[in-house]
Amino acid sequence: MLITFEGIDGSGKSTQISLLKKYITNSGKDVEVLREPGGTDISELIRGMLLNPEIEIDPVTELLLFSSARSQLIAEKVKPLLAKDVVIILDRFYDSTTAYQGYGRGSLPIDQVHQINRVASHGIAPDITFYLRLSLEESANRTAHMEKDRMEQSGIEFYQNVIKGFDELAEKEVRFMTIDASKTVEEVHKLVLSNLPF
Ligand code: TMP
Repeated sequence: MLITFEGIDGSGKSTQISLLKKYITNSGKDVEVLREPGGTDISELIRGMLLNPEIEIDPVTELLLFSSARSQLIAEKVKPLLAKDVVIILDRFYDSTTAYQGYGRGSLPIDQVHQINRVASHGIAPDITFYLRLSLEESANRTAHMEKDRMEQSGIEFYQNVIKGFDELAEKEVRFMTIDASKTVEEVHKLVLSNLPF
């Protein structure tokens, strides 16, 4: 079982993921939380490059780096864990690439982004995707005090397009469960639990 969480910065993914992890552990199942980009030695090194504000990266290179980090994570961790029946919770997956690199950066036409996503994920798809939807204003309020990494310095227009990307995916993909992330932590957690496929 592969569960993914998506949403812009400040949407509360980390909080909801740790609450869900606790719930699944208490229900007696093995569960592993992994983050993207990251989760393996190579993928964490790539993450360091991608988020470093000192480094300039061409948009297609950026897309391919996120995809490379993903490919290693899937091969090294996700596939073996799924084979052992472990529930995996992924903090972001290829929908972030579609939203950020496809819609946000406009790096390549969306159908090409989908093709690269399929290659990088080794054909693995999420069983359910929780999209914690937050407005740009609310996100800005919640993250105002935080230092901005390379991605977070991308500007308002970029983030408007990222949200548009997630919203369009949510309309098209039946696995998407959109949750209003401006609700309280407890309300969002309840909505996550009520939509769990087990
Ligand atoms: P995080 O802050 O949620 O850990 O994610 C790292 C940043 O990378 C965040 O700004 C979203 C961005 N990102 C992409 O642009 N494309 C991707 O495919 C992924 C997984 C993340």
